[in-house]
Amino acid sequence: MSEDHILIENPEAHPGVRVIRMNRPDKKNALTRAMYDRMADALIDADKDSNVRVVVMFGVPGCFSSGNDLNDFMAIAMEPSQAKGVNRFILELGKFAKPLLSGVDGLAIGIGTTMNLHCDLTFATPRSQFRTPFTDLALVPEAASSLLGPASMGHQRAFAMFAAGIGFTAEEARDAGLIWKVVSEDELEAVTLKAADDLAAKPPNALAISRKLLKKPVDDINARMHDELHHFANQLKSPEAMQAFQAFMNRKK
Ligand code: COA
Repeated sequence: MSEDHILIENPEAHPGVRVIRMNRPDKKNALTRAMYDRMADALIDADKDSNVRVVVMFGVPGCFSSGNDLNDFMAIAMEPSQAKGVNRFILELGKFAKPLLSGVDGLAIGIGTTMNLHCDLTFATPRSQFRTPFTDLALVPEAASSLLGPASMGHQRAFAMFAAGIGFTAEEARDAGLIWKVVSEDELEAVTLKAADDLAAKPPNALAISRKLLKKPVDDINARMHDELHHFANQLKSPEAMQAFQAFMNRKK
């Protein structure tokens, strides 16, 4: 991986705020194993570093993330130990203890959608699209979306998104409770960072306790993630999944 695919920033104008930026625009911010690894390390480091009060996730203009790199899915299907980085990031997301914000512009596919279920405030632009084509790829929901999705949006909307693979507009995602606010492209970074600044200025212990009280217990999230990962790993090896990945690779031929 080029180091530049995940940028870790401590913006001087925003003390206490750390930014994790996905930056692989030529592949629509598809996430490779190395990128997951770096993001997992970034979360661990941010949790430990007392100078970091709030973490913000951004993508690039027009693209938050197109989800897992489908070439990597094929590699993991051949060699399951290769899933370590992906799994580590997902598990770290589930137990991350500081306020986590995201600013979404454009494509938010697969984990590009589900990671927002772990965020405390997500801002998204009107052109954003939230979509999890898990079953179309012969896969199953991940990142505890099968637990957190229905809890935040009710069964039918969660089924539409995570089982039927129906895409949500930014407004639909806001109305469903997946995200907090829709803001213009011009404002996205400033508004998200302002929200991060406001949180970074609050008494950190009171904020940490409040956040913990509001969230599902980490053990429940962790247990569901392992359950999903078990099914996910089995499906990844299935002929129907391989066929779906090949179809994507061959779609331009
Ligand atoms: N994995 C690997 N490569 C991906 C990718 C992914 N998830 N998403 C996009 N890319 C690559 C494309 O292969 C293409 O590479 P190329 O220029 O070398 O051919 C490049 O990014 C641009 O994508 P392209 O498909 O040409 O752009 P588009 O605007 O027509 O479509 C998407 C963008 C994201 C809608 C489409 O690429 C897509 O459906 N990607 C797969 C999304 C997915 O299923 N993710 C997994 C969810 S679990």
